[in-house]
Amino acid sequence: MTIIQISNIANYVGQEVTLRGWLYNRTDKGKLQFLLVRDGTGIVQCVAFQKELDAETFALVMALTQESSLEVTGTVRADDRAPGYPGKYELSIKSLKLYQLADEYPIQPKEHGVEFLMDHRHLWVRSLRQWAILRVRATIIRTIRNWLDEHGYLLVDTPILTPAAGENTTTLFSIDYFGVPAYLAQTGQLYNEANMASFGKVYCFGPTFRAEKSKTRRHLMEFWMVEPEMAFFSLEDLMAMEEEFVSAIVQTVLAQHRMELEILERDISRLENVKPPFPRISYDEAVERLNALAATVDDPERKAELSITWGDDFGSPHETAIAEMFDKPVFVYHYPTAAKAFYMQPVEGRPEVCRSVDLLAPEGYGEITGGSERIYDAELLKKRIDEIGISPENYAWYLDLRRYGSVPHAGFGLGVERTVAWICGLPHIRETIPYARMLNRLYP
Ligand code: 4AD
Ligand code: MG
Repeated sequence: MTIIQISNIANYVGQEVTLRGWLYNRTDKGKLQFLLVRDGTGIVQCVAFQKELDAETFALVMALTQESSLEVTGTVRADDRAPGYPGKYELSIKSLKLYQLADEYPIQPKEHGVEFLMDHRHLWVRSLRQWAILRVRATIIRTIRNWLDEHGYLLVDTPILTPAAGENTTTLFSIDYFGVPAYLAQTGQLYNEANMASFGKVYCFGPTFRAEKSKTRRHLMEFWMVEPEMAFFSLEDLMAMEEEFVSAIVQTVLAQHRMELEILERDISRLENVKPPFPRISYDEAVERLNALAATVDDPERKAELSITWGDDFGSPHETAIAEMFDKPVFVYHYPTAAKAFYMQPVEGRPEVCRSVDLLAPEGYGEITGGSERIYDAELLKKRIDEIGISPENYAWYLDLRRYGSVPHAGFGLGVERTVAWICGLPHIRETIPYARMLNRLYP
């Protein structure tokens, strides 16, 4: 018995093979039954012809329900018309073994509402579209690791249980740590900075937690973030590295996932273009461009949405509008210091803006990376900690890093789910992670 994977079926034309998997769908033509069987690596059409099977086997074929688990043995044939993924091959069934006859499956090949599907996420992950998305996600994660490993970055893990805020105090998930307050990590960055001083170029990559009390299509409570941190990097070095890194992710998905992107009906012309260099504009210029655009708009609501006062952080409409002005992801740098995290290095001679940079993805996907140069002067950092009113005792170790061989350094975080949403062309972030944690959802 040769057990094969559907993804390799092209290698077995004319041979008798066995597949193990689940019944995805069927077409009933009486004496001819077309079973679409999936095994996790693909979907193949298996043909049961009454004349060629004993009565018991054909009766079993007829009794199979959607998502029944089975093992099917037969001969592989090439046929350009055969549906499936990768398609163009089918299996003529000789024998069949049933593992379990599935109960009536709640997800039908027809349309369902999103809430229903999210309630059945444990089953929905089997559907073709979700299968495609999560395979692309895995490649994005693999490419992130490979690229960083190959470019001299060392993976150094950072803790999830933390004693203090890493970004801001408004989105903390609190827990009770044996009677002491603790928080789920909002970022690994502060620890990355310690690790950077040991290894030069490091990254951490793990789940990140933000109690974002808003429902948007870009926010999750639990998301995955990769955070590289580099000694002696300037903001310009950071942008040069980010554009290489993000381009490598996009180009790898394009090279390896044409089939999945087709399933998702993704227009790939916008992705093919994602190669260095990316445009760079300052926050000042972005504000000017937004207000100039707002001035050309008649609809008062839209005008209000686009207008921005210098100093304010961008909302989604701003990010989308700026991104639409370019055909590639765009860097926006030198944001107002007051709108950003406490650790960002002020611009020399102009401390109201800081050495920060966000990368905005095209097509309305918004900010996919956020990063900066870090303050490396101990006194200045202490002043910033006092200004924003977080307790300095919790940051004593972080201040130590500025006392023992402090160096200019920079880093950024890239959100995996926003990157998946962009590359796959998905309207909402909830489908980019196997089990989304949202304001109104902690199930399944
Ligand atoms: O801009 P953020 O908050 O940056 C940091 O956390 C820095 N400490 C990173 C660093 O410099 N080491 O988050 C970085 C990225 C965002 O650009 C976005 O892609 C993603 O993380 N992100 C979220 N993704 C999904 N849901 C959320 N609630 C997110 N918050 C941030
Ligand atoms: Mg940010």
